[in-house]
Amino acid sequence: MRDKFDIVVACDSNRGIGKQNALPWRLSTDMKYFRDLTSSTPLLTEGKRNAVIMGRKTWESIPPNFRPLKERYNLVLTRNPNYSVPQGVFRSPSLDEALEFLSGGPVDRVFVIGGAEVYKQALAHDKCGLLYLTEIRAQFDCDTFLPEFRGFFQLLSCSEVMQENDLNSCVKVYEFNYPEYLSSAEV
Ligand SMILES: NC(=O)c1ccc[n+]([C@@H]2O[C@H](COP(=O)([O-])OP(=O)(O)OC[C@H]3O[C@@H](n4cnc5c(N)ncnc54)[C@H](OP(=O)(O)O)[C@@H]3O)[C@@H](O)[C@H]2O)c1
Repeated sequence: MRDKFDIVVACDSNRGIGKQNALPWRLSTDMKYFRDLTSSTPLLTEGKRNAVIMGRKTWESIPPNFRPLKERYNLVLTRNPNYSVPQGVFRSPSLDEALEFLSGGPVDRVFVIGGAEVYKQALAHDKCGLLYLTEIRAQFDCDTFLPEFRGFFQLLSCSEVMQENDLNSCVKVYEFNYPEYLSSAEV
């Protein structure tokens, strides 16, 4: 497993990410981008796969016929020791224990894929590497938001604008600056 994990998220112009435990939009180009990014690894031939870590509510928000997410190890965070997950899906009582568990397996990249509660912890974690952010240039009615992060993240790249369903979006890649985070007055 690589040293650091990455974060993948899509948000609207208010940093909204969800509504009633679902995505507020439907963007097939972003779904494909998410699937390709989180599934692809050059180490497949060595028997390695990527892993996705998600909160219990995000797991439950995935339609049953689409979960577990294919060709990736799926790890669900829950504090409930009796929470049942299907065979082949992993469960962990904390982000650190999840990372520790995955580090012992045939894993290449690890992606934290939400939701807000898990992003909040991941965005302040010393093992956080890159943040892949799809920015949708519109406002949706949301009840769940990505925490503010820009002060501690440096923009590395920005894709061209994509258009689907009258929505413009782009993918920005940021890198976490942990020393800056540590030295900030808020910590
Ligand atoms: N736009 C996007 O890219 C995106 C991506 C993902 C999700 N979402 C949206 O985000 C919303 C869900 O986010 P959310 O914040 O409500 O829920 P969430 O983060 O998906 O899940 C929260 C749950 O995860 C478990 N959990 C969280 N931190 C944990 C930890 N450190 N250790 C152990 N368990 C932990 C707890 O489960 P227990 O209560 O079982 O203990 C907690 O109730 C939905 O609307 C979803 O559609 C959007």
